[in-house]
Amino acid sequence: MTDSSYLTSHDGLTLPAVGFGTYQLKGEAGVGSILDAIDVGYRLLDSAFNYENEGTVGEAVRRTGVPREELIVTSKLPGRHHAYELATQSIAESVFRTGLGYLDLHLIHWPNPKVGKYMEAWRAMIDAREAGLVRHIGVCNFEPEHLETLMAETGVLPSVNQIEVHPYFPNLEAIAWNRDHGIITEGWSPLGRGTQLLQEPVIVGIAERLGSDPAAVVLAWHRAHGVLPLPKSGNRERQLANLATSLVLSDDDLTQIATLARPDGRTTGQDPLTWEEF
Ligand code: A2P
Repeated sequence: MTDSSYLTSHDGLTLPAVGFGTYQLKGEAGVGSILDAIDVGYRLLDSAFNYENEGTVGEAVRRTGVPREELIVTSKLPGRHHAYELATQSIAESVFRTGLGYLDLHLIHWPNPKVGKYMEAWRAMIDAREAGLVRHIGVCNFEPEHLETLMAETGVLPSVNQIEVHPYFPNLEAIAWNRDHGIITEGWSPLGRGTQLLQEPVIVGIAERLGSDPAAVVLAWHRAHGVLPLPKSGNRERQLANLATSLVLSDDDLTQIATLARPDGRTTGQDPLTWEEF
């Protein structure tokens, strides 16, 4: 990889350095926000069956003048659809809801390890890829032990693992595991999802020194760790600001930001080993 504005997975999936989160963007207003995001330059759109907005994302993709092949449309398989037949139907339904004929990237939303059916879901994902319904497959919230299981049972590793990452919960061990296996780490709630993160004196101080703003500092921290953040914003100016990738942090900045990490730093306590989401 020579261009830092892209990330490439073990199987050749190339993604832009920043993607656009669409959670809670729905209906006509949602289409407008997503069209703004595409217009300011986002090419990776992150949706999910459970966000109930695959149709909204698909409509924006149909309305934009940006060629379809330049966009990476992502969705996610919900936890209640892990059984093989249900997963197969669910993937087809996601594609149908977008109205686009295929998804560029489809992810298992949660491993739900206590249910224990994520292997069935993974086999359905592999088959959907072979059938051409989805171009690339991945997971979200998978810990290394879950990834080891996928590898052992199918020999197929995901292209992407989307996990919670922000300075309160840097998740560095998971990021390192992904990196070592050529899996692109996408970060959800990259700006800390409405917590105090963007008001933290450490972040604000670095932003003031660099003549930047707190969100830019946090997104530069993601890049420094090789993470592809998925910031959400319904506001066109902030969408544009979050795309700027020129800010580079020093080692000293990174050391200061590391002091914000805390064991209970997850925004909503969703530990993938115990969390169940259907
Ligand atoms: P808004 O939609 O009004 O811009 P996360 O991506 O971590 O879940 O955080 C999303 C929240 O952060 C949203 O409330 C969004 O509000 C806000 N946000 C997004 N970009 C910025 C930014 N550049 N500066 C400040 N707040 C931002």
